[in-house]
Amino acid sequence: MSDKKIIAVVGATGAQGGGLVRAILADKRGEFAVRALTRKPDSDKARELATLGAQVVAADVDDTASVRRAFAGAHGAFCVTNFWEHFSPEKELTQAANMAKAAKEAGVKHTIWSTLEDTRKWVPITDDRMPTLMEKYSVPHFDAKGEADAIFTASGAPTTCLLTSFYWDNLIHFGMGPRRGADGVLALNMPLGDRKFPAIAVEDIGKCALGLFKRGKEFIGRTVGIAGEHLTGAEMAAKLARALSQPVRYNAVPFDVYRGLGFPGAEDLGNMFQVNHDFAEPFCAARDVAFSRSLNPAMQTFDGWLAANAKRIPLE
Ligand SMILES: NC(=O)c1ccc[n+]([C@@H]2O[C@H](COP(=O)([O-])OP(=O)(O)OC[C@H]3O[C@@H](n4cnc5c(N)ncnc54)[C@H](OP(=O)(O)O)[C@@H]3O)[C@@H](O)[C@H]2O)c1
Repeated sequence: MSDKKIIAVVGATGAQGGGLVRAILADKRGEFAVRALTRKPDSDKARELATLGAQVVAADVDDTASVRRAFAGAHGAFCVTNFWEHFSPEKELTQAANMAKAAKEAGVKHTIWSTLEDTRKWVPITDDRMPTLMEKYSVPHFDAKGEADAIFTASGAPTTCLLTSFYWDNLIHFGMGPRRGADGVLALNMPLGDRKFPAIAVEDIGKCALGLFKRGKEFIGRTVGIAGEHLTGAEMAAKLARALSQPVRYNAVPFDVYRGLGFPGAEDLGNMFQVNHDFAEPFCAARDVAFSRSLNPAMQTFDGWLAANAKRIPLE
């Protein structure tokens, strides 16, 4: 029987949690073992994690008792919600509250809550620079996560709030890669103006979370932010051009145009990009790259990520 301390990972079959599962399993001499939480222990992804050495257990963050059972005996818990599955900030708040309650009741020593800012501290809904969404949010998929920080604190679960960054992997999976214009030249169409934008290889989020669990007490009760690099749209396009060996132009899409693109979440993301732009300084400052690298010395730069992933970016 292993005497390693267990880290229970919500979202283990997903991008953030999966990165943490793999980081723990790769750290063979490390102090932690991993318990992967999933609603579908029989899925291919869950079976793959079991094959790699994770303990796979059933849990649904809509059901507090199932999460409490899954957290029982764990030293640490990584908590994440998936806004894009349901597009409901209220549901995210409930799921966060369920996880916080379960962590407290199970006596978890260190919980990491994967969060983002409540952007209403910068853009209150009375500010007319952008539309208010769902009656009370500026950036719904940010605001509910940020609001939930206080739920974790109030629960008494010893928590680190981890501010994540935009994944470069969105260029592959979220349809955000460069598109070919009428002239045949690729364009990176993003509403970033000329400001710096913090982003990260998603697998590095899990590696940073492992760094936080290792350093433990130092970070309980604190909010920390991570990024692999802060780059402008023009800098990203230049790096993409080198990696793809063809020109890539940066197209600074106006926020209103992006909000009007019509795909699910377009308004939410348009508002997010505008907040990133209008508050680029505090947004970047909250995600210090040197600090992030101190948690995860293998942190990738955008060039490093492109060297491994450029071929996977669909080019249309
Ligand atoms: N895309 C970005 O650039 C970016 C940047 C920062 C933050 N985020 C945030 O990241 C979050 C998504 O994380 P991700 O990218 O890691 O997601 P993902 O790859 O889509 O995976 C979602 C994970 O959540 C689990 N899950 C969903 N609902 C669950 C439930 N009711 N009970 C238990 N597990 C549940 C799924 O597990 P099973 O299906 O196996 O149960 C799966 O492992 C979103 O809230 C988003 O706002 C995204």
